[in-house]
Amino acid sequence: MKHIFKDHKSTYTFLLLHGTGGDEHDLLGIAQYLNPNFNVLSVRGEIQEHGMNRFFKRLAEGVFDEEDLVFRTHQLHDFVNMKAIEYGFDRTKVIALGYSNGANIAASILFHYQNAFDRAILLHPMVPLRKELPDLSDVSIFIGAGKNDPICPPEQSIELERLLREAHAKVHLHWENNGHRLTQSELDAIKVWLLK
Ligand code: MLT
Repeated sequence: MKHIFKDHKSTYTFLLLHGTGGDEHDLLGIAQYLNPNFNVLSVRGEIQEHGMNRFFKRLAEGVFDEEDLVFRTHQLHDFVNMKAIEYGFDRTKVIALGYSNGANIAASILFHYQNAFDRAILLHPMVPLRKELPDLSDVSIFIGAGKNDPICPPEQSIELERLLREAHAKVHLHWENNGHRLTQSELDAIKVWLLK
């Protein structure tokens, strides 16, 4: 998969996953803002939807091709495992940071694997699919949601929070009122959360 790796000799590595139509450059500035010392592995989604990059196929807006989602979930998980060996970063200290479509595949990885991430920052996510979750007691998750997000509606954020909590993850749900957009106050809230 096309990607960028920045080795800052840190214990922690951000895994950056862009939104629909983005690429591996999109979230670099945000990672830099949140913690410039962490290593960065930023990946480009391999699905093309009318020229827009995505991490998995969808049938319509908000309706996912579940078979493809599951396939891509395992593929991305394996990719991170391989890159940890190749680049020598600590696989147990990966912090996923996904926006929209990228948050959805990060959430799907959490739904499938117990130890994929040390922490996960899911910005404007949805419930990726419905299945039994692994025990996520060791994972802390920040969900950034919009009360008036037309793409990832608030009910989805609330359900996602509930499912993750039921799997024993530590979840912080942060609300904004700026639709599907990322905002400065959201980033500042993540920064504080990361320090905890
Ligand atoms: C998705 O397809 O993952 C969601 O609808 C969000 C997005 O548009 O990327």
